[in-house]
Amino acid sequence: MSDAVLSAPGNQARTAVERSAAPIGVFDSGLGGLTVAHAIMRQLPAESLIYFGDTARVPYGPKSPDTVRRYSREISAFLIEQGVKAIVVACNTATAHALPNLQDELDVPVIGVVEPGARAAVRATRTGHIGVIGTAGTIRSQAYVRAIRAENPDVRVTALACPLFVPLVEEGWTNHEATRLVGEEYLAPFVQDPIDTLVLGCTHYPLLKPVIGEIVGRSVRLIDSAEETAADARRMLAANDLTAADGEGEYRFIASDDPQQFLTLGRRFLGSAIERVEVRTFG
Ligand code: DGL
Repeated sequence: MSDAVLSAPGNQARTAVERSAAPIGVFDSGLGGLTVAHAIMRQLPAESLIYFGDTARVPYGPKSPDTVRRYSREISAFLIEQGVKAIVVACNTATAHALPNLQDELDVPVIGVVEPGARAAVRATRTGHIGVIGTAGTIRSQAYVRAIRAENPDVRVTALACPLFVPLVEEGWTNHEATRLVGEEYLAPFVQDPIDTLVLGCTHYPLLKPVIGEIVGRSVRLIDSAEETAADARRMLAANDLTAADGEGEYRFIASDDPQQFLTLGRRFLGSAIERVEVRTFG
């Protein structure tokens, strides 16, 4: 993709007021990133959002880093065409594989979900043993291990991939016996060698908090990076003079596949109903 597309010439022509009134682009491989959008809506009510869910190409978890990077670039270029002033990569797998590239290539500030989660985990741990769970791609990338060690090199990190959790959540089986059995299998290493903090390093896992908490033990702190990422978004906007003036933000939701599924399942992640979903396909 050419730099010309990624640097959206129109951005420079806008006045400071126009730039700060522009929406934040938030994207994910599908619907899960709505948990991050929800936290931004709550913490930054004056900000407008454009949420893009790549529902045609989800899941990103098992895909190669190159493919995830290509998808992330396409979506970011599209969001910049829509006039966003900043981008939040709400997908852990896309953050793990593509964040540094996007930060280099785009002319708007970009943040992801890994660093905020890592920071919160290091703050929370008392025993110095942190667990991380995520998709196969996120865990293989070691992005969380690096981010946690960058915060505190003395912390021990055990990272485990839990690929079946995503389809179980999408099936609505958040409190189902099958999910409990799968969870017991995946999370057994944390029971054998206890952790005191567990990073839920995937957009879908916050919906499994009750089951995961039961398996690893109620005393283990479960870190959901959505709130922490929204706090980072606030800091990023302030540092770049992009904070919206007081008022009420407007929201657009865009999917790359059937909007019906987005309308039906979106509520589960966003916590409230979505009235309209636009469709934008790639390739
Ligand atoms: N959004 C992805 C993540 O947070 C989970 C779903 C997928 O595999 O695409 O890693």
